[in-house]
Amino acid sequence: MASILDRFKENTDGGKVDYNTLPKMKIGIIGCGWIAEAHVASYKMCPDVEIVAAADLVPGKAEAFCKAQGLEGVRCYPDHKSMIDNEQLDAVSVCTYNRTHAECTIYALNKGIPVLCEKPMAVTLDEAVEMRKAEKASGKILSIGFQPRLDANMQMIKKIVQSGELGKIYYIQTGGGRRRGIPTPYGTSFIEDKTAGIGALGDIGCYSLDMVLNAVGYPKPLTVSGYKSAYFGTRPDYYPTHPEYAEKFTVDDFAAAFVRLEGGIILDFRIAWAMNLDTPGDTIILGTEGGLRIPSTECWNGTTGGPMKIYHEVCGEQVETVIPEIEDDTNLLFYKKIRSFLDAVRFGGKAPVPTEQIIYNQAIIDGIRRSAECGHEVSIEVPEV
Ligand SMILES: NC(=O)c1ccc[n+]([C@@H]2O[C@H](COP(=O)([O-])OP(=O)(O)OC[C@H]3O[C@@H](n4cnc5c(N)ncnc54)[C@H](O)[C@@H]3O)[C@@H](O)[C@H]2O)c1
Repeated sequence: MASILDRFKENTDGGKVDYNTLPKMKIGIIGCGWIAEAHVASYKMCPDVEIVAAADLVPGKAEAFCKAQGLEGVRCYPDHKSMIDNEQLDAVSVCTYNRTHAECTIYALNKGIPVLCEKPMAVTLDEAVEMRKAEKASGKILSIGFQPRLDANMQMIKKIVQSGELGKIYYIQTGGGRRRGIPTPYGTSFIEDKTAGIGALGDIGCYSLDMVLNAVGYPKPLTVSGYKSAYFGTRPDYYPTHPEYAEKFTVDDFAAAFVRLEGGIILDFRIAWAMNLDTPGDTIILGTEGGLRIPSTECWNGTTGGPMKIYHEVCGEQVETVIPEIEDDTNLLFYKKIRSFLDAVRFGGKAPVPTEQIIYNQAIIDGIRRSAECGHEVSIEVPEV
């Protein structure tokens, strides 16, 4: 039997392309931190790719990163601009913290370079709109790094909804969280406003939103009443070895919202980096003909937290159908993300995770933040680009 990796290659190229025979695409990495390692590992699995350049704002970081990753002959730069201006690149990965996603992406697109930008798309809706404008003006691909979408179980959610099995969808509950899980393994870039801009809301909230919005076809968000708090990240005793992080913590560690979507759908959302609970509940999608329960995960491991269940009626009887978990390798999700982006760039396809959808994800996050700050419901206006 073909491996999952081979099966994925067959899926994306129909088994017709021998990547070994293709001229190598020249790739640049912008931001040489934690997630850049996963990008590099996946690019290394693609024989038609050569990483030629890397950039990081921290002096010496790009050089040290390339050495640690075994990347030889890669030219290193002190920022994205100098790298893009001095290289002939076929594509870049934007692996910077959230606050610089927009400027790096827009700069690359304006120079005609396709971009794979990490999630969340940006910090604000205004930034996301500018990114989309640059994408449209350039005619180049901009894909956003939501790899859980490429998991077979996650794709099953969309298949179930789109099949009509659940009827008309009218209510969704989604989100997730960790009891204690503020991400500070490599320092404070996730918890400082100046680098992250948004906390749990942008880091893991964007995944929960993508899981359900993608399934229901990304309806336009209309209004949101949002809440956010930071009761854990601001406590010095939260970080036994780094109590000083508490003062740096300037984002949210919990957020919740009630969102109205076009088409009469209500979205009830909550997300936590830390809380006094194991999980704030499973994801549920309620329709007129059936309801789907998606067990919650550790938030986020890239797939569903167990077999899903459909609650429906058969011949007047209320029954449950268990959807068996599909064997898939979550370790390959990153490879799939990179490969599908490269294929779109090389063969002229659509962005695997398109901004026309993710801009609504960003609009909800932006709306939650605005509503939480002003203390009442706000309208969501997404400008046409
Ligand atoms: N898809 C996933 O599974 C996943 C997982 C973790 C993180 N992420 C996302 O990846 C992004 C980066 O996270 P991280 O943990 O690697 O952060 P990090 O802080 O470890 O690394 C980011 C690096 O970008 C550099 N940088 C910032 N602006 C730059 C610029 N203009 N030019 C060059 N370098 C610049 C910083 O100096 C830093 O070294 C975040 O947006 C995060 O949400 C995605």
